[in-house]
Amino acid sequence: MSVIDDLRRIREEAQGAIDVAQDESALETLRVRYLGKKGSLALALRGMGQVPPSERPLVGQAVNEARDQVEALLAAAKSRLARAALEAELESTPLDVTLPGRRTALGHRHPLTRTLEDIVAIFQRLGFGVLEGPLIELDFYNFEALNFPKDHPARDMQDTFFVEPESLGALRGRQDVLLRTHTSPVQVRAMLSRRPPLRLIMPGTTFRCDSDPTHSPMFHQVEGLYVDQGVSFADLKGTLDAYAKAMFGDRPTRFRPSYFPFVEPGAEMDMACGVCGGSGQLPGGEPCRTCKASGWVEVMGAGMVHPNVFRACQVDAEKFTGFAFGFGVERIAMNRYGIDDLRLLFENDVRFLEQF
Ligand code: PHE
Repeated sequence: MSVIDDLRRIREEAQGAIDVAQDESALETLRVRYLGKKGSLALALRGMGQVPPSERPLVGQAVNEARDQVEALLAAAKSRLARAALEAELESTPLDVTLPGRRTALGHRHPLTRTLEDIVAIFQRLGFGVLEGPLIELDFYNFEALNFPKDHPARDMQDTFFVEPESLGALRGRQDVLLRTHTSPVQVRAMLSRRPPLRLIMPGTTFRCDSDPTHSPMFHQVEGLYVDQGVSFADLKGTLDAYAKAMFGDRPTRFRPSYFPFVEPGAEMDMACGVCGGSGQLPGGEPCRTCKASGWVEVMGAGMVHPNVFRACQVDAEKFTGFAFGFGVERIAMNRYGIDDLRLLFENDVRFLEQF
């Protein structure tokens, strides 16, 4: 039997098999059987040895034609199967093109993000710029330069997450690496890297080893710093009072003495309680739980930058004065949206988040 006859037989057989193939994998099996390296066409080519040299070009051409034909048959079968599959799908799932389209559900910003953005916008209107700093800090920035005595309890294991020295790469082996416990280290970085006048707020994530309905090991603070010639406590009060009024409405504020190592004098700013209106009593006469019947809620810590901090940050304490303040963002968001468990803010349960 001549090679030409072989080729015709192969082609006919292929056509028969391809016509009845039911799916793509069957087609692939056929492709390998006829066109593959060890397929029928390749075998037929081995018969070339017996063909007289003068006929070889003709036979070669016939092999090429057979291959082209089988390829065309396979391609046609493939699109026939695809069309059939589509038709079957359309028939099994009726499509009503007159139905209205589906809207893509739009998300919104997280309540914490919105609170933070509002805070930042208020201070920007007051002339403050925004600065961020690293979450993993050195003891120097988080404590030392902020005038924390060596034995200050805030340095204690109970509050501070220290970072495993093994996991530190370039800082390997150091014992003074920690997750910042407040945003105040960014004050230090600001003073060391820029010259006064400085008017900055420094929002960011902070960490303390603490977890209950009103404390989360990860939370957020906003720090503020104003350093210039002649900055006084009156500037501090005016600025923070303006912020409180813009953020919470026209409510009385008060400042009471408080202690933070990095400010002197230090103060705590309170604001009239929004729930009882500052009376400490609810309309029915019971004591207000939000302010523990005092009529005031704490808003933030603040004070005049301590000269030791200026010294550590290479700011001339004879020439410049400044004030700093800091507060947590979660508490404000909870207050604003009536959330009673801080941890809800971090669970990212859409059923909760959708409500805002
Ligand atoms: N860093 C302080 C804290 O975390 C807040 C603060 C900042 C107080 C600046 C005074 C001045 O509690």
